[in-house]
This record gives sequence, C-alpha cells and structure tokens, in this order.
Amino acid sequence: MSGTISHMSTQLQDQQAAALRALDQAFDADALEAWRIEWLGTKGRVKGLMGGIKDVAKDERKAFGQELNTLKGALEAAFDQRQADTQATESSPMDVTEPGTGERAGRRHIITRTVDDMLDVFGRMGFTPVTGPELEDERHNFTALNVPAAHPAREPTDNFYLADGRMLRSQTSTVQIRVLDHTPPPVRIVAAGRVYRPDTHDATHYSMFHQVEGLYVDRNVTIVDLKSTLLAFAHAYFGPDAEVRMRPSFFPFTEPSAEVDMKMQIKGRWQWIELGGCGMVDPNVLSEVGIDPEVWTGFAFGLGVERIAMRRYGIGDIRWLFENDERFLRRF
Ligand code: DAH
Repeated sequence: MSGTISHMSTQLQDQQAAALRALDQAFDADALEAWRIEWLGTKGRVKGLMGGIKDVAKDERKAFGQELNTLKGALEAAFDQRQADTQATESSPMDVTEPGTGERAGRRHIITRTVDDMLDVFGRMGFTPVTGPELEDERHNFTALNVPAAHPAREPTDNFYLADGRMLRSQTSTVQIRVLDHTPPPVRIVAAGRVYRPDTHDATHYSMFHQVEGLYVDRNVTIVDLKSTLLAFAHAYFGPDAEVRMRPSFFPFTEPSAEVDMKMQIKGRWQWIELGGCGMVDPNVLSEVGIDPEVWTGFAFGLGVERIAMRRYGIGDIRWLFENDERFLRRF
C-alpha cells in the first residue's frame, strides 16, 4: 500500500534529519566516533531500522530496503565529509582562536611629513610646488646663481663632482634657474628636495639633507614681501606666537641677503633657531636667465628641513633620521 510506504518514508526522512543534526554538533574526533557508533555502528540505529524490515508488509519490503540503503549511504557520505573537515581543521597550523597581532600600518618618514607640511603651508600662500634634478651641472648649481668661478663654495672638497663635470646639487637654489630659464614672470614656486655635501657625519651634519626653496619674481616685489611671507609661514607652521628674524649675511645670488631665524617653542621654552638663508634675487641672476631686472624683482629663500624637523620633534641626532631603524621611525 502506497500509504504505508509514504509513512515509512517520512519516518526515514525524520531519522535522516535527526542524524545529520547530531552530526553537525560533532566538533572533534571523539564526538564523531560516538556519532558513528550510534548511527552506523553494528548495533546502531540504522542497523535497528534494517531489523524492522521483517515487520514491513511483504510487497513493500523491497522499497523500504532501498530507502534504507539510500539513508545509510547518505549518512556514511555525511560522516566521511565531516571527518575530513574535522581532520583538516585539527591538523591546520592556524589556530583560529588565537588573538590577532593587529595591523602595523606604514607611515611617512618624518622628513617627508615635514616637507609635505611645509609645502602645504606655502601652497596655501600661492607657491606652486616644483622639483628639479639632484644630478646637476655647474651652471645651475653655481654659475647662473652668480657664484664666481673661484668661489670657495665650488671647491671639489666641498662638493660631490662626477668625472664628467656634473655634480650632486649642493643646494635647491638650482631650481630657481631651472624654473626661470623657461618661465616668464610672474613666478611663485616652492621646491623641496635632497642636497648633497661631503660633510663628515656627526649629530648635526650628514652628507645628504633636505631644503625647501622658495622663489617669487614679479613687479614691485620688496623685502617687506619676503619678511611677511616668512612670518606667515612661521605662524602657520609653528603657531601664532612664532617670530622671524633676518640677520644681514651674504649669498652670491641675493642682494641684500640675510640669515633666517625663527623663534619657536621647544619643550615649553622659546628659542631662536637658524633655519636658512634668504634675500632679494640678485639682478645678475635675473639677467642670466633673460629677465629684465629693471622691470622685475624677486625674493628667494632656502630653509633646512632637518633643522626644522629635529627641533620640532625633539630629534637630537641627524643620523637617526637616515639609519632606518624602525624603532626610531615608528615614534613619529
Ligand atoms: N642655498 C643656500 C644654502 O644652501 C640657502 C639660500 C640662501 C637659499 C639665500 C636662498 C637664498 O634662496 O635666497 O646655503
């Protein structure tokens, strides 16, 4: 009778569902073995169901037997799969319960960050960031900047010259020439980058360091513009109480020239720090790049990035900046 068969089928389906639910709860080898004995063992439930065949009406026994075989096959397959999964988990070198170690995100080098911050301030003041090559020729590094051939700054012992006469730039003032050679005024640029000098390494000297160079050439640019630009930078970068001082000095490419000091707070104390040089662009420099000094005037400045970063972040030795010791770099 088909009614009996379907009744049996439902019963087997319930059995199968119960078996699979129990299997789902077997999380380790012991629990799996217990499940196997209970359901598929020689005295297990499936065996018990098979023993019930004799109670089934004769003409339905065949169908019932087939269904039982299907059930048994399904449980065996599920068991094998579960066992394989459990073994894979147990033998895996990964312990998913282990606490994570956390992400160690990278970060910008403290010099990069200082440069970015400086360029950001000058950018807001209308200075366009530009770059120039580190490998230069003497014209850009010296001659066009009004540095005479016999000037001591050109000494081979003070510069990295190549055999072909080129050199690693000793100052970012090279970029002034790079820009003015090709750009008619008005020009307002800022250039950051590495410069090289064969200094013996100590706490304050390194053979490579960074400068931020500014140049503004326009009609009627005066030294007041220079001073107010540096002051605006100091206020934006070091805070509203910072001050700027210009001490008369000499650079071949500016006239008049000055050293730039900024007064900043270091660990609660106000200090004057020498940060670089500045001045009004020398008429000879403008003439050299084909700009009429009777029409155009300009100012320029060059600031030492390491000096600024070391003071600002309390770094006592310039060498620490370039040793790439992660314990140091991660402090910032
Ligand atoms: N280039 C100079 C140096 O490295 C710094 C400097 C001084 C840059 C005066 C300037 C400037 O633009 O006007 O010592």
